[in-house]
Amino acid sequence: MFVWFGVGFLWIVIDKSEIASLPSWGNMFTKIFFHISANPLYVAYSERVEKTTESESTTTRVRWARYCYLGTAVLLTLAVLIQIYIAGMAVFIDPARWSSHVAFGNVLPVFLALLFVLAFLGRLSRTHKGLPVLIFVLFFVQFSTAHRFGSLVGAVHPVNAVLIFWLSTVTIQRAWRWTGAK
Ligand code: HEM
Repeated sequence: MFVWFGVGFLWIVIDKSEIASLPSWGNMFTKIFFHISANPLYVAYSERVEKTTESESTTTRVRWARYCYLGTAVLLTLAVLIQIYIAGMAVFIDPARWSSHVAFGNVLPVFLALLFVLAFLGRLSRTHKGLPVLIFVLFFVQFSTAHRFGSLVGAVHPVNAVLIFWLSTVTIQRAWRWTGAK
């Protein structure tokens, strides 16, 4: 019994020192100690190693998703600023720029979809999932107020733009707090 456990212990030492992973040594040891896999000491050890490796890779994935969430929130905020700037170009330089404003406005929701997916991958809180949804609702308002020229509803469009910008910065703040957390 003690000898059997001793063999298991020896196998753990070999495994840890990675001698067993060398092709020739590994094959030889595997042949000699083939029956070791039934040794409870070695079984418990290898199960623990497997679990640790799995949880480590999960943590890495979660951490990456959180950094990507932060990066996307920064990009969204910059994109919103650019969108407002393009509107300014259309007003102050050339009305033909409205076509760029319309085109870019249709691309912006992609950032929100990304944020939403990353919030799940990064196992972030409800606030992190809810913020892109809320901004998406404001985007919907943006789409429905865009062509209401000559009406009070149309004038909501630039005000709503300010709200979108503010919520984008809130998304950055919230993401910043969580990226360091495990
Ligand atoms: C967060 C910032 C903004 C976003 C996301 C946004 C989004 C949009 C979108 C998506 C459209 C096109 C709707 C469609 O045709 O389907 C649009 C059109 C328009 N936006 Fe904005 N907008 C923003 C800021 C502004 C600002 C600050 C102004 C005013 C100075 C403005 C004025 C207009 C006008 C006049 C149109 C109609 C352009 C046309 O069809 O010729 N937008 N906007």
